[in-house]
Amino acid sequence: MSVNVREAFSFDDVLLVPKYSDIATRADISLEVDIGTASSLKLPVFAAPMDTIMSNKMARTLHEAGAMGVMHRYCSIDEQVRLVSGAGTDFECFAAVGVTGDYLERAMALADAGVAGICVDVAHGHHSSAIAAVTEIRRELPDIHIMAGNVATIRGFEALADAGANSVRVGVGGGSICSTRIQTGHGVPTLQSVMDCAVSDRDCLIIADGGIKTSGDMVKALAAGADAVMVGRMLAGTSEAPGEVIQNPGSPPVKVYRGMASPEAQIAWRGRYSSNEGVSRTVPLKGSAREVLFEIDKGIRSGLSYSGARTISQLWGLATFVLQSSAGAKESSTHIDS
Ligand code: XMP
Repeated sequence: MSVNVREAFSFDDVLLVPKYSDIATRADISLEVDIGTASSLKLPVFAAPMDTIMSNKMARTLHEAGAMGVMHRYCSIDEQVRLVSGAGTDFECFAAVGVTGDYLERAMALADAGVAGICVDVAHGHHSSAIAAVTEIRRELPDIHIMAGNVATIRGFEALADAGANSVRVGVGGGSICSTRIQTGHGVPTLQSVMDCAVSDRDCLIIADGGIKTSGDMVKALAAGADAVMVGRMLAGTSEAPGEVIQNPGSPPVKVYRGMASPEAQIAWRGRYSSNEGVSRTVPLKGSAREVLFEIDKGIRSGLSYSGARTISQLWGLATFVLQSSAGAKESSTHIDS
C-alpha cells in the first residue's frame, strides 16, 4: 500500500498580497452576485440553515443588507412555511430540505410559499441520496435555484452540479461548532476545498461554508474562487438569532449557538440523537445582525480594494496568495497584548 499525502491550506495559513489599486472609495466596488433569483445578492453572504441562526427576523435583516438567509428545516413543513412567509412576502430567502422523508413535499410547499431557492442540506453531500434528492427536486421544480451540499472535493461539487444544483456549499467539518473531523477523521480545510472546486468548468456557484471567522476570511474565500460565503458563527448571538438570552449573575448575557448534528439540537428537534458531530456553546450577545453585516460589507470592499479589484470576478484574476509561517500568523493578528 502506498499513501499519498498532499498539503491542504486553511484561512490562517495564507494572506493576500496587496496590489496596485486606483479605487478611490469603497462605493466604487460592486459585490453583486447574480444567483438567478428576483434580486441578485448585493452582499455575497448566506446565513446557515441552523435553528440558532435563522429566524424570520434574521431573514428580513439579511435581505435588507443584500445578503440571503437559508431557513432551517428542523420543524414541521407548516412551521417552516410560516417562517419564510412571516409578515407577507416583503423579503426573499432560501429554505432547506433534507434528503430523506418529506424532502420533496417540503420543497414543493416552500416553492409554493415563494422562497427564492431550495437548499438540499446534508452533512455529506457527495452521496447517492443527496444526488438523488437534487435530481428529483430539479425534475419537479425546473426553474428554482437549488443550492446543495456540503462537499469537500471537486468530484462532489461536480456530482451535485450535474444533478442540477445551481450552487454548492463547499466545506466539510470546518464549522466553528463542528466535530465531524474529530469524530470521523474526515474533512478538508474549507479554503483548500474552495481552491480545488474553483477549477471546475461547471456553471455552478461555489459557496464557501465553515470556519469563516472574519471579513478577511471571506475575502480569502472569494479570492480562492468562491462566489459567496455562508456563515453561522459570525451571526450567532445577534438579536435576530433565535433563542433565549441567558443571564447568569455576574456574567455577560449570552445565547446558545449549536451545531445541527449536536445531540442538543437533535434532541430539541426529534427527541433523540443519532449522530454526534457537533457541539453546543453559548456566545456573547452582539447587537443587531444589521451592524455585523455592515462591518462585513465594509471589510470585503476594503479587501477587494487591497487587491485592486472592483468586482469579485476581477479579484479571481488579481489575487495572489502567500503562505505565512506561524510567526507570520501571529503578526497577522493583533498582538499588542502578547
Ligand atoms: P461556522 O464556522 O460559520 O460554520 O459557524 C457554520 C457551518 O457549519 C456547518 N454545520 C455543522 N457541521 N456538525 C458539522 O460538522 C454540525 O453539527 C454542524 N452544524 C452546522 C454548516 O455547514 C454551517 O453552515
